[in-house]
Amino acid sequence: MNAPTISDFTGKAALITGAGSGIGLATAQLLLSRGATIGVIDMSMDRLQKAFPEDSVLKLSTDVSDTEDAARAVSEFVVQVGRLDSLVLSAGINGPMGKVDMIHPDEIRRLFEVNLIGVYNYIIPALPHLEANYGSITLVGSINGSRQFSWTGSSPYVASKGAVMALGRSLAVELGPRGVRVNTVCPGSIKTNILESTTWRGGWPVGRPRHYPEGDSPLTGKVPGEAQDVAEAIAFLASDAAKHVTGTELFIDGGQSLA
Ligand SMILES: NC(=O)c1ccc[n+]([C@@H]2O[C@H](COP(=O)([O-])OP(=O)(O)OC[C@H]3O[C@@H](n4cnc5c(N)ncnc54)[C@H](O)[C@@H]3O)[C@@H](O)[C@H]2O)c1
Repeated sequence: MNAPTISDFTGKAALITGAGSGIGLATAQLLLSRGATIGVIDMSMDRLQKAFPEDSVLKLSTDVSDTEDAARAVSEFVVQVGRLDSLVLSAGINGPMGKVDMIHPDEIRRLFEVNLIGVYNYIIPALPHLEANYGSITLVGSINGSRQFSWTGSSPYVASKGAVMALGRSLAVELGPRGVRVNTVCPGSIKTNILESTTWRGGWPVGRPRHYPEGDSPLTGKVPGEAQDVAEAIAFLASDAAKHVTGTELFIDGGQSLA
């Protein structure tokens, strides 16, 4: 029997949120190029249409924080494609950045609705389908929220990503017996459109930044990583080559979080 390869997703089906830009887009393109049937979800239908003009890609424009829409999206994809093997949950926002006492709790609530509830919204309806295929869930955490807190003024984002990463570890234990793997990638600074989803609340960065934004990566200096770098890691975690990998956090940061 041939060993499973990272590159082959033929016969597999993947649903990717946040696929209109950045890491989600690069991952969706990569899985598609490796033979997967994909469904893509984003707030922006414009971005999805431009990136995936082919009719074979199911495109759904919705807010991941909408629970009913998420259930509909999963169901529509499975009805159309007949299976679901990989769920990649990349939709996320930076949200409010600034002194904690300049941030309104409503802004924090919104951030958590997108970055955390938006993840639960897809996992819950997808589970029976993933379970049927020994499928996988890949979450997108961050070096902020795990082992680097020098990006002062981003406590809501950091808390949301810390929650996503704890969720990944916890679900890996819970869902292992059901045959579903759960892993998290933790990107460092990656060149995407993420700053579009940032609302500055004055006086940023706050406190005394130890590293970022003055610091840099041991590997690439001030040059950020590319969305493709993260996509390659997600493709590995979502592939059969990672069949014994669950509960892992894979840092894609050029060593940024260690320096
Ligand atoms: N870029 C980085 O440096 C970096 C670092 C660590 C973690 N991340 C994480 O990576 C993930 C992807 O971010 P990115 O850098 O590719 O950013 P991006 O802004 O380029 O892409 C995010 C995509 O998600 C979509 N989106 C945002 N909110 C949504 C919602 N409520 N419903 C549906 N779609 C929504 C946006 O329209 C966009 O197309 C995020 O979870 C982010 O927190 C990014």
